[in-house]
Amino acid sequence: MATFLGKTINGFLNTFGMHLVKIENLTFHKYWNKQQYLEKSEFKYILSLYDVYKKIANVPGHIVELGVAYGRNTIIFSHLINMSNENDVRKYFGFDTFDGFTEESLKSSKQLSKHSWKGISISEVEKRIKSTIKNKPYRLIKGDINKSIPSFLEENPNFRAAMVYVDCNAYEPAIRALENLRPHLSPGAIICIDEKKQGGETKALIEFCEKHNLRFQKDDHAFSIPAYTQVNS
Ligand SMILES: C[S@@+](CC[C@H](N)C(=O)[O-])C[C@H]1O[C@@H](n2cnc3c(N)ncnc32)[C@H](O)[C@@H]1O
Repeated sequence: MATFLGKTINGFLNTFGMHLVKIENLTFHKYWNKQQYLEKSEFKYILSLYDVYKKIANVPGHIVELGVAYGRNTIIFSHLINMSNENDVRKYFGFDTFDGFTEESLKSSKQLSKHSWKGISISEVEKRIKSTIKNKPYRLIKGDINKSIPSFLEENPNFRAAMVYVDCNAYEPAIRALENLRPHLSPGAIICIDEKKQGGETKALIEFCEKHNLRFQKDDHAFSIPAYTQVNS
């Protein structure tokens, strides 16, 4: 009866170029308009990480991230490792103080804020990651990169990285980590920076490239990360 009535009303409205809209559709649109998830910049960001991940498809080794914060990239890279069936051969290693910038960085880079990224609980971050990533293709390492990277490499002398993803914002931990990691980069490895507003990471990567005769580059497409280099393969 309702369908018959609907058809009749629609037939009438059609003569004026109009039609009935189902109530569920209205509810759905209202719901959809409120959604913030997968908004443009987030979607673009995920695509840019997929793009850099593809660059290491034929490069053996792990992923190192300098600066983990709440583990967003830990989740994205873990998904990429799992979905590429690479969890036997590749892992993500994330380094962070989980307490913001060091005194040394704050002294040498005045634009950094002592209030940023403070007091992040590593166990809460792990819990959050675990709720999405059921296996463990990742490891989080707490501490100042200036100390934690050298001691990690001392414990793992055969460690090889296919990607170093620099997202610690500060110049001096970035450049020191890159120099420490250099002998541990696989041929063809890439070093990326995640910095829209150029600052310490950009400075560190340019300096590293100049010193080691590498190309400071960017790709020519919408999902390109701000800058990266590829070590000679
Ligand atoms: C921009 S956030 C990282 C965001 C993260 N990559 C993501 O996916 O959302 C920068 C992080 O770098 C960390 N950091 C800065 N200097 C550091 C240092 N010397 N050692 C370890 N972590 C550091 C901060 O604690 C902060 O969590």
